[in-house]
Amino acid sequence: MKTYRDIVGDGGSNIVEQVTAQKNRLKARMDSVRHIVAVMSGKGGVGKSSVVVNLASALALQDYSVGILDADINGASMAKMTGVRGQALETGETGVMPAMAARNLKVMSIDLFLPDDSTPVIWDAPTQKDAYTWRGMMETKAIREFLSDTEWGELDFLFIDLPPGTDKLPNMLDLLPQMTGTIIVTIPSELSQFVVGKSIRMAMELLRTPVIGLVENMSAYMCSQCGHEEKLFPGSMVEELAKRHHVPYLGRIPFDPRVAVCADEGSFFLEKHGDLPATIAIEQIAHRVGEFLKQQRSGDTDLRRL
Ligand SMILES: Nc1ncnc2c1ncn2[C@@H]1O[C@H](COP(=O)(O)OP(=O)(O)OP(=O)(O)O)[C@@H](O)[C@H]1O
Ligand SMILES: [Mg+2]
Repeated sequence: MKTYRDIVGDGGSNIVEQVTAQKNRLKARMDSVRHIVAVMSGKGGVGKSSVVVNLASALALQDYSVGILDADINGASMAKMTGVRGQALETGETGVMPAMAARNLKVMSIDLFLPDDSTPVIWDAPTQKDAYTWRGMMETKAIREFLSDTEWGELDFLFIDLPPGTDKLPNMLDLLPQMTGTIIVTIPSELSQFVVGKSIRMAMELLRTPVIGLVENMSAYMCSQCGHEEKLFPGSMVEELAKRHHVPYLGRIPFDPRVAVCADEGSFFLEKHGDLPATIAIEQIAHRVGEFLKQQRSGDTDLRRL
């Protein structure tokens, strides 16, 4: 059997040209996106995807042009949470048109390509020995294609919904060196804060990516009958965690079952529920994100409102 060491040159595949062309295509596509924001957490199930949908819809409701890329290939949830599952994708002149949610929110997710509700994504590896590397490569390839082969058009914001863990962030930054920054999500449990502290270090110190801030999700439970607020987890130190790592604390979103109901039915929580504590919290966080970005690009005279 031949290995890659036995092949002289690139084996006739023009691999260097292909990779360069792909990189150029990705750069050209992303040049028309003003801010690329990845939402991440070392911990699973803390509300990353909810934060993505709610911040994206908050900005879309203010008439910004917003897109969401679902980078969680195995746990894709963006199509369902934005209500675009089952939309037929059309091909444009230079790529695939993204699915269109309410308020012209553009969404791209592998979920839009799966034939039915129960189909998981499985990458076939040539051998079991190669499986780990192979899956990682295929996932990165899929994300690169979603970024570069989708007709995003001009966007003010592109949110990237990352899977749990921090291991995908370096790949994402390789693909998108122009990424504006990350938003990190935690719940107030001691365990989540412990893990998320490492996520902040990884983003800031190791990868030198700007951290836009820390979001505390599911901070408290509010009785929908009497409005009484009860802590969900004892001993929240999320503000202190943010201070310790010198990152902005963006705010706390209470647990509200209506957030989950809207996510399940694919409607915008902010549009359906105008004046709840969770609504106000999300709007404030969106505002703080906007302020951060405004500061970061204060030299940009072409800014519309941000
Ligand atoms: N503030 C909230 N109030 C009520 N429900 C919430 C809230 N935040 C998230 N949820 C619900 O909790 C569940 C998990 O949230 P979500 O999917 O956003 O987490 P995640 O961090 O993206 O998970 P994963 O690690 O699997 O990607 C979802 O059903 C979501 O609707
Ligand atoms: Mg998620």
